[in-house]
Amino acid sequence: MQKLAIQGGSPLNGEVRISGAKNAALPILCAGLLTSESLQLDNVPDLNDVATMRKLLQQMGMAIETDGDRIVLSGAHIDKLEAPYDLVKTMRAAILVLGPLVSRFGEARVSLPGGCAIGSRPVDLHIKGLQAMGAEIHIEHGYIHARVPKVNKNGRLKGARIFFDLVSVTGTENLMMAATLAEGITVLENAAREPEVVDLAHCLIAMGAKIEGAGSDTVTVTGVEKLHGASHSIMPDRIESGTFLVAAAATGGSITLTDTRADILDNVLEKLQEAGATLLVAGNTISLKMNRRPAAVNVRTAPYPAFPTDMQAQFMAMNCIAEGSAMMVETIFENRFMHVQELRRLGAQIDVEGNTAVIKGRMHLEGASIMATDLRASASLVIAGLVAQGETVIDRIYHLDRGYEHIESKLSALGAQIRRIN
Ligand code: UD1
Repeated sequence: MQKLAIQGGSPLNGEVRISGAKNAALPILCAGLLTSESLQLDNVPDLNDVATMRKLLQQMGMAIETDGDRIVLSGAHIDKLEAPYDLVKTMRAAILVLGPLVSRFGEARVSLPGGCAIGSRPVDLHIKGLQAMGAEIHIEHGYIHARVPKVNKNGRLKGARIFFDLVSVTGTENLMMAATLAEGITVLENAAREPEVVDLAHCLIAMGAKIEGAGSDTVTVTGVEKLHGASHSIMPDRIESGTFLVAAAATGGSITLTDTRADILDNVLEKLQEAGATLLVAGNTISLKMNRRPAAVNVRTAPYPAFPTDMQAQFMAMNCIAEGSAMMVETIFENRFMHVQELRRLGAQIDVEGNTAVIKGRMHLEGASIMATDLRASASLVIAGLVAQGETVIDRIYHLDRGYEHIESKLSALGAQIRRIN
């Protein structure tokens, strides 16, 4: 198993290009299932999750051509309407094939994702939504088997009003995709407002879908008979952007992100300023300079536009060496503090009670051997390793490779002393 060895203490300095967003690329790849024509995607990040999604789509009969960060999908010969357990268990986002498959083919068999390191994460909202649109759903042998009865107009889903009693990002995306080819109008209420939902909507609209309100809590989709080919460029990754900014702030560095967007990072940028960083936004670049010890910042995660749960762990790493104490409340996932145990191994002072962590900032962390437990937790351990004195070795970094493109080469180019050990 691969590990990362980090020699802490070097501030990050320089320029780094931000990759396409993982959480936009995954649903948009699934949108390719909605048409028999070609969908050309640019700025697709080179990540393990993207490779897993490609493999899943190929198993279904999707033709896929890759050229650098461009992927061209062709769904003319989809013949296997199934997402098997071995792929879904490694990547929950595989559930995103469910809506498109049922909508275009009237049938799908998708494995239930099962347990997940950061909480139970059920998919009941995806299932209820499809049922409201007329799909018959049976759970059998660990699989969701969805079918649209032929009595519905030629096996098409029908539009419905769907209320989410909890904001779900992939739930909104799955049902928005399903609604594009349904008969009639679908209204999604209390929909997720995440920018990745908007990026997916832009791609679907380019394919001929009729969608209004994406980015607000009410999304209205008027079903059409067919979607066509299109081309779309994936939006920048706001979580990768935030992660590099926090890493620079925690190490007392000065960096510029290129090909990013500040308008979707409001809360994160505000918290970095509160910590003492100087920020400059110009066009699609964000520059950050930190010439003091960070001040501790309180954080409460909530759905967009509030502070993202996917940035909680990275801010915790910074709070570990900050001046003062911080309270961090996680409201989205019930078990998303697994990085705490590992940060403690580096000397961090953190108390956890339920969904609240209290971090007392220390002058220094000390390098140690630690273990990554999930994607964003891994990023926080890298940040902690960059600030710790001496060497930190992070095991199980396959979690990191799921969502960060070429992280160690990007960090090395910024002056970090980091290497991958096979
Ligand atoms: C997406 C993101 C993930 C991010 C999360 C929250 C992708 C591929 N992943 O995950 O990076 O951390 O949003 O911003 O975009 N829930 C239910 N029933 C459901 C669906 C969700 O109870 O049917 C609960 C979940 O357990 C969780 C909360 O709703 O507590 C939010 O989850 P959700 O927004 O669905 O997360 P994902 O879409 O899986």
